[in-house]
Amino acid sequence: MTNLDFIYKRKSIRQFQDQPVPKADILEMLKAATYAPSPKHQQNWHFVVLQDREKIQELAEIVYDSHEAIGRLAKNEKDFKRHMSVINYYTCFKDAPVVVLVYGCEYNMIEYKIMKENDAPQAVLEMLQSAQSGAQAIGAAVENFLLAATAMGYGTCYMTGPTHAKLAIEAAIDFEKPGYELMSMISLGVAAENTPAQPPRKPLEEVVTFID
Ligand SMILES: Cc1cc2nc3c(=O)[nH]c(=O)nc-3n(C[C@H](O)[C@H](O)[C@H](O)COP(=O)(O)O)c2cc1C
Repeated sequence: MTNLDFIYKRKSIRQFQDQPVPKADILEMLKAATYAPSPKHQQNWHFVVLQDREKIQELAEIVYDSHEAIGRLAKNEKDFKRHMSVINYYTCFKDAPVVVLVYGCEYNMIEYKIMKENDAPQAVLEMLQSAQSGAQAIGAAVENFLLAATAMGYGTCYMTGPTHAKLAIEAAIDFEKPGYELMSMISLGVAAENTPAQPPRKPLEEVVTFID
C-alpha cells in the first residue's frame, strides 16, 4: 500500500523548539512548493523567508496591533473580547525559527480579458473569476510545502489570519513586488513536545458524493 503517512501525520504546529532549520532544508521545502500545479502554469507565487527572530516577533506585534485596532470597531466590549479571542491563532508564529510569507499575483485569464474587451455582462465576468484560480495555486503550493516539511520531520502552520496586517508587514520587512500581495504565511520549525492532537475529520460519507 502507498505510504501516505506524511499526509495523515501532518498537523498544525503552533509551538516550536528553539532549534534553527538548515537553509538546505528550507530550500527543499520551497522547491516542493514550486512543484504544485498552477493555472496555465503561471506559477503566480513568491516566497519571502524570514529567520530573524526579532523581525518575526516584530511581525507578531504588528499583527496583534492590527487585530486589536480592527476589534475597536466593535460596538461593545463583549464583541471586542470575542474578536480578540482568536488572536493567539494569528500570532502563534512568534516563536517559530522560520516564517515564510507567501505572496501571490492574480491569475491572468485570457478568456476574462477577451470577454471584458467584448463588454460581456458583469455576471459573466464574475463567473469566470469565481474559481479564484490564483488563490487556489497558492493553496496548492503551501500544501506541498507543509507536506514536504512533515516528511522531513518539521512542524508547520498554514496561516491566513495575520494577513489583515499585510501593508504594515510589507513595510516592516521592506519587501514589495508589484502586482503581488501577501496571501498566507507558514510558520516552520521543529515541533515542541506534546503539541495538541490533530483534530478529527468529518467522515467521508459527509463530504463525498459519488454520482454513478
Ligand atoms: C487557508 C487556511 C488558513 C488558516 N489560517 C490559520 C491561522 O491564521 N492561524 C492558525 O493558527 N491556523 C490557521 N489554519 C490552520 C487550521 O486551523 C488547521 O489546518 C485546522 O484547524 C485543521 O487542523 P490540522 O492542520 O492540525 O489538521 C489555516 C488553515 C488554512 C487551510
